[in-house]
Amino acid sequence: MTIRVVFVCLGNICRSPMAHGLFAHLVKEAGLDGRIEVDSCGTGSWHVGEPPHRDTQRILKQHGIQLHHHARQIERADLEEADYLIALDRSNLADLQLMEPKRAEVGLLLDYAPDVPHRDVPDPYYTGRFEEVFEMVEAGCRGLLAYIRQREGF
Ligand code: 4NP
Repeated sequence: MTIRVVFVCLGNICRSPMAHGLFAHLVKEAGLDGRIEVDSCGTGSWHVGEPPHRDTQRILKQHGIQLHHHARQIERADLEEADYLIALDRSNLADLQLMEPKRAEVGLLLDYAPDVPHRDVPDPYYTGRFEEVFEMVEAGCRGLLAYIRQREGF
């Protein structure tokens, strides 16, 4: 059975595509790409169809990570079929919880990285701080993968 992980932010152009690309890279490195599927989406629809923000693309590329993705808004299939719905900040988490996902574990990315002294990944669309965001997302993704491996037994 494949475990389906979906990262959720507001626009699906800055933070959740970063987590999507990085997490898929970590999954592949661990030889788990047949076991875990990764995707991302946004709660909002403003950027649907757009590629990731150029600074998200740049920073992923700097780390040797390729991502082909176009922004999409969360849909029923995510709420019904995901095993893990991972919000990038508490506002995304609150929005997700209101949508009443069926079976997924709904979590906050930085809760899987207890060494990071924040709970929200700040939105670089407004701050421009993509490097800082990448470090936080990386810590969260590493913690999340370790958590899933332990929980799923692989
Ligand atoms: P993201 O950033 O949620 O990390 O993709 C944003 C991108 C666009 C907007 C907000 C956040 N926007 O309002 O257009």
